[in-house]
Amino acid sequence: MCGIIGITRKEDDGPIGKHIYDALARLEYRGYDSVGIAVIDQDHIQVKKDKGPITLVGKKLNFESLEGNTAIGHSRWATHGPPSKINAHPHKSMAGDVVVVHNDIIENFIDLRNELIALGYKFISQTDTEVIPHFLSHQLQTGQSMEEAIVELVRRITGTFAIVIAHTLEPEKIYAIKKDNPLVIGQSENIMYCARDVPAFLPWTNKVVTLKDNELAIITPEDYQIISLPSQEPVERNPHEVTWTADAAQKGGFPHHMLKEIHEQPRVIATQLATQQKQFEELGEIITHASKIILVGAGTAYYASLTAFYTFVKMGGPIVVPCIAAEWDTVSDLVDDKTLVIAVSQSGETLDTIKAVKDGKAKGCKLLSVVNVTGSSLTHVSDYVAYIHAGPEIGVAATKTYVSLALALWRIGFNLAKFTGKLNQREMSEFQQALQSISSVVADLIRKYEAKARDLAKWMSTKNSAFYLGRGISYGTALEGALKMKEISYIHAEAYPAGESKHGPIALVEEDYPVIFTIPNDHNRSKMMGSVQEMKARGATVIGIIEEGDDQMKDTLDDYFEIPKGFSRFLSNIAYIIPQQLFAYYTSRNKGHNPDLPKNLAKAVTVE
Ligand code: AGP
Repeated sequence: MCGIIGITRKEDDGPIGKHIYDALARLEYRGYDSVGIAVIDQDHIQVKKDKGPITLVGKKLNFESLEGNTAIGHSRWATHGPPSKINAHPHKSMAGDVVVVHNDIIENFIDLRNELIALGYKFISQTDTEVIPHFLSHQLQTGQSMEEAIVELVRRITGTFAIVIAHTLEPEKIYAIKKDNPLVIGQSENIMYCARDVPAFLPWTNKVVTLKDNELAIITPEDYQIISLPSQEPVERNPHEVTWTADAAQKGGFPHHMLKEIHEQPRVIATQLATQQKQFEELGEIITHASKIILVGAGTAYYASLTAFYTFVKMGGPIVVPCIAAEWDTVSDLVDDKTLVIAVSQSGETLDTIKAVKDGKAKGCKLLSVVNVTGSSLTHVSDYVAYIHAGPEIGVAATKTYVSLALALWRIGFNLAKFTGKLNQREMSEFQQALQSISSVVADLIRKYEAKARDLAKWMSTKNSAFYLGRGISYGTALEGALKMKEISYIHAEAYPAGESKHGPIALVEEDYPVIFTIPNDHNRSKMMGSVQEMKARGATVIGIIEEGDDQMKDTLDDYFEIPKGFSRFLSNIAYIIPQQLFAYYTSRNKGHNPDLPKNLAKAVTVE
């Protein structure tokens, strides 16, 4: 999420504010809602920031007139506190001596904030970030050096972060630390940069040093020093030369945002799991107080809701009804003041979903929104909000946000099960285990299956039509797999509950007709074998996403992707979608389309 740029230089080569402005403009592709700059000198730190695009804010606050030799800038994508001038970065300490920009989430910020308030610090923003400058400033006042203060900070904070710091005592220095969030240093002559992404400084230098987790970089105009934390051992690392074009650099070296976002999934899963633990526990309980739940969303968000429908039913608790947002009228009469509506939406701006929940609110329901975009319209009408923390998604086809929405809903299901007692101790620990390992399993699946998906896509791109079949929760996964394929490759891909396909759709099957099966090793597996046989008998080419070691399936299918054991009962809709995302992406490319910008589609659909 968010963009970061820091510059420290020896000689004035024009207003530093202009350089920060240009760098932030080059990071615009990341998506953001507010921007800011801090210029540091010995006497004070000047901060200018506001909500809005860089072109407006930068011009209104006259960034380009800011002079100095050290500056840090930030484009914020709100997580804690809505987009506003006060919540925008950089954030300064109360004493005005330390300034900070930060990406991602300080998980334990409330505890730190309370400690600092008890020491007399006053907070002006709602951000998690603001604890950092106050904490560091306090440590400096106890006589610590900035390096020692940062070591202490890293010892105290939990979560994931990229943090860039400057202070008045050493105005020529920039400090940078990171954990599970990228930071790079750019080296030039008598001028050094530090940024979230290479594009920020690419026109000025292509000499790049990549920071690793738990490393501290101390950057001066002439040099940089890397220190491993907590041991404080120095690390030797020379710059490498980046040969990307600016466009490739914006996509992190990937040819498309969609592929980059597929690859980001392990990280966004880990980020979400590191956050809102307490909140999800409370949501589990809130659900048990409702007489019924209506899950509502559109497109991919609806499919994530549909998979949650199967999950919640299995976990016990109130009656659950899934509803496509545009079909809200059908369920509207079911809503009363004991109903909990769960609105699921990446953007939080989908008009069909907003209209549905407004009707629900008018009938007295409680509203929980599961959303990605902080401060979006849905959050304003909600009683409870669970953020999925997937970061901005640029590709029109949802990938990382599907996985993140599904994950958030599973977390609610997990906490619901704690109250209903529907799962025994062994099942709860299996579930917990699946949650803990899902991030690394997704990373392994992408690594293992990207080439295979690319190969299979060559065959798929010669086809006009395909079926995607699953049962139970895997019907939801199949719907999402088919949606990805049709959205970006324009191949007619239709999902059915596997048992339903024999009631009509099977008439379309002919020699080499593609049928993609989602087959976790759950209670539906043997029935799925029947469906595979049915299709095969009619000449279909049958591809399965199956559990590792399912030899009988392997012998029957024409080709398959194997998912490690442990995800058939829990989180199958996350693990089993990964090869399908890659398959759709490469089919689109094979057909010569741009997967990022499918025709006729918009990222947020704000019309009815
Ligand atoms: C998914 O690939 C689509 N772009 C689309 O179905 C999308 O999920 C739908 O429009 C809902 O959007 P939302 O999550 O922002 O509400």
